[in-house]
Amino acid sequence: MRCTVFGTGYLGATHAACMAELGHDVVGVDIDPGKVAKLSDGVVPFYEPGLEEVLRRNLEAGRLRFTTSYPEAAAHAQVHFLGVGTPQKKGEYAADLKYVHAVVDSLAPLLEHPSVIVGKSTVPVGTAAALGARARALSPAQVEVAWNPEFLREGFAVKDTLHPDRLVLGVDRERNSARVEELVREIYADLIADEVPFLLTDLATAELVKVSANAFLATKISFINAVSEVCEATGADVTVLADALGYDARIGRRFLNAGLGFGGGCLPKDIRAFMARSGELGADHAVAFLREVDNINMRRRTKMVDMATRAVGGSLLGANVAVLGAAFKPESDDVRDSPALNVAGMIQLHGAVVTVYDPKALENSRRVFPTLNYATSVVEACERADVVLVLTEWNEFTALRPRDLDRVVRGRSIIDGRNCLNRATWRAAGWVYAGLGTP
Ligand code: UDX
Repeated sequence: MRCTVFGTGYLGATHAACMAELGHDVVGVDIDPGKVAKLSDGVVPFYEPGLEEVLRRNLEAGRLRFTTSYPEAAAHAQVHFLGVGTPQKKGEYAADLKYVHAVVDSLAPLLEHPSVIVGKSTVPVGTAAALGARARALSPAQVEVAWNPEFLREGFAVKDTLHPDRLVLGVDRERNSARVEELVREIYADLIADEVPFLLTDLATAELVKVSANAFLATKISFINAVSEVCEATGADVTVLADALGYDARIGRRFLNAGLGFGGGCLPKDIRAFMARSGELGADHAVAFLREVDNINMRRRTKMVDMATRAVGGSLLGANVAVLGAAFKPESDDVRDSPALNVAGMIQLHGAVVTVYDPKALENSRRVFPTLNYATSVVEACERADVVLVLTEWNEFTALRPRDLDRVVRGRSIIDGRNCLNRATWRAAGWVYAGLGTP
């Protein structure tokens, strides 16, 4: 089948490449000529394991191309996926829908044949219905809007797109949606044949599935981090506790890793947008707990600053602090709302000399945080450090041994912000080890 994907960020570029991998004839569209040029050359403009191979294979096979031309994209297909960003508005909790609106406003007037716009971006409930009305008012052809939320994780984007846990399709029940369902089922035929569950819903439910999935994950992480605070007050060990909880199948071990908490382009802004939208709908009391989820999450970051202060004797002024990790999680170069960079920045504000190393996220970090020092290796970052902070659990850091750093640091003190190091090993080598929620 032919389809287009509007937006070529983490979501859109992955979706375009993966739809081509399923055998479809795909055009990826972006207003940024730089991104289009890179993708057309087989270069992924961000770090995502495995994506470049899929991109190149499908470019070579002639099933995938990229363009900045909306008329070209409009004429290419009946099915148009929408994968642009919905970031948090500046100074507000609400999501900024300007990119979603811009695509619909530009695309709808160009549609000459009956078409379906299939939203994949995470949007506040009610957006899809409003976009449908907007698209129909602008388009000379019959146009339907459906919502098919994307649940992919960065670092596993290809796998999550080609082997999702489920497919959710929200359609406008007020309209004749049989054709919409048929087209989307055809696009995902291989996945459905692989027995991926396919759930057909109304538009609002589909939008809410995504938002509530992310709110649940954020809540799970903040739950264990709240318990972690109590562990700190009592000398209990949150990692053993999480293991013990996780054996209960109703709870499960995943997303129970206590530490510096969640960041990234999705979880933080999605819970805030959920609160904002619920407020608009008069249901803010229902999700008031999410404010606490957010607070618990942010408290882990200030706790880390306190621990670093204590580790260097009570004042960060003039201390050398090595920060290992800048990405919001391993296997990603994404630094949006990164707990690691946030902590690095706060420590610098306290007067410390902060040197950051990350295997993949240095370029992005430099762009958003140009005042920090950056090193090109772990050893370089740790040279003459009074304390070493591990803030993203890259394998390169979990594999570190005390003897790798013994000779370069000034003070043998390490703080494990992700509970990813073996504390017995570090202590046995004479280091002062501190972790979040561990004795
Ligand atoms: C998330 C959702 O998982 C995904 O389904 C959705 O489509 C987009 O948002 P992503 O942002 O890629 O995906 O990252 P995820 O793996 O969910 O991690 C989010 C954050 O939570 C990271 O900062 C991670 O370090 C943190 N985290 C995760 C924890 O602190 N503890 C955990 O146990 C798990």
